[in-house]
Amino acid sequence: MNLKNIAFEKEGKIALVTINRPKALNALNTETLAEFDNVITELEKDSEILAVVITGAGKSFVAGADISEMKDMSVIEGREFGILGNKVFRRLENLGKPVIAALNGFTLGGGCELALACDIRIASTKAKFGQPETGLGITPGFGGTQRLARTVGIGAAKELIYTAKIINANEAYRIGLVNSVFEPEVLIDEAKALANTIANNAPVAVKFCKVAINRGIQTDIDTAVAYESEVFGSCFSTEDQKEGMDAFLNKKSLVGNFKNK
Ligand code: CAA
Repeated sequence: MNLKNIAFEKEGKIALVTINRPKALNALNTETLAEFDNVITELEKDSEILAVVITGAGKSFVAGADISEMKDMSVIEGREFGILGNKVFRRLENLGKPVIAALNGFTLGGGCELALACDIRIASTKAKFGQPETGLGITPGFGGTQRLARTVGIGAAKELIYTAKIINANEAYRIGLVNSVFEPEVLIDEAKALANTIANNAPVAVKFCKVAINRGIQTDIDTAVAYESEVFGSCFSTEDQKEGMDAFLNKKSLVGNFKNK
């Protein structure tokens, strides 16, 4: 992979993806979104990777979409840029592996939208959150009008988006935008520990849980529980289910040693 604005590392069962475009506080331009798309392809392909951590280098996670690139866009270019961001983030949301956003600093606009496309968000005490778009004359464009309301509820989402205000990590925790808040120096270790805890459980089951939750949350409860029955049943075709249950009945555990089969 030829990456300029993103660092990609593997550590055992997990991958660490770091957005690193210091001159613009990791703002997402077309080039970075294209690189991100390639990173997702790699994450999909590599069967050794069972969980992913995404973070930002320096004092920012991602300070939004790139304002200098957007400034002179036409209607068509603006729409295409929005479609590109939404396509990439939707691929991330649908990735068959859990993704943890480790929010180290500014998590604004497209950065907050990237975090919302991840499965779990944890933050540093230094992180700042917001959807500042209406203060720039635009709407959120990479899923913010949709995923923020689904995550924190419609009232809190509308307040954040209409006011364009910036909130701190404690407030983000209070409204349910992040699951937990850590001191900056331990954030990445905490994210990796969480990723490894998940990666040690049965990967196919974790993937099925992600599919069932993501699909189920968007539909009526009868259809949703039918998805659950479907994935629950499918687990019984896996070696991991047979061996995991066998281990339990023999007073052992397969956690950490599942085969991903
Ligand atoms: N796009 C392009 N460049 C950006 C950027 C962005 N989103 N955010 C920061 N930068 C650049 C700045 O222009 C500056 O560049 P120069 O050094 O060349 O002047 C550099 O990064 C450092 O930024 P600051 O000097 O502003 O740093 P600061 O610490 O004083 O402030 C900040 C940090 C509060 C995050 C501030 O940079 C800021 O408000 N950034 C913009 C945040 C924003 O509005 N994001 C939403 C973008 S729109 C969007 O995301 C649409 C969408 O949904 C798709």
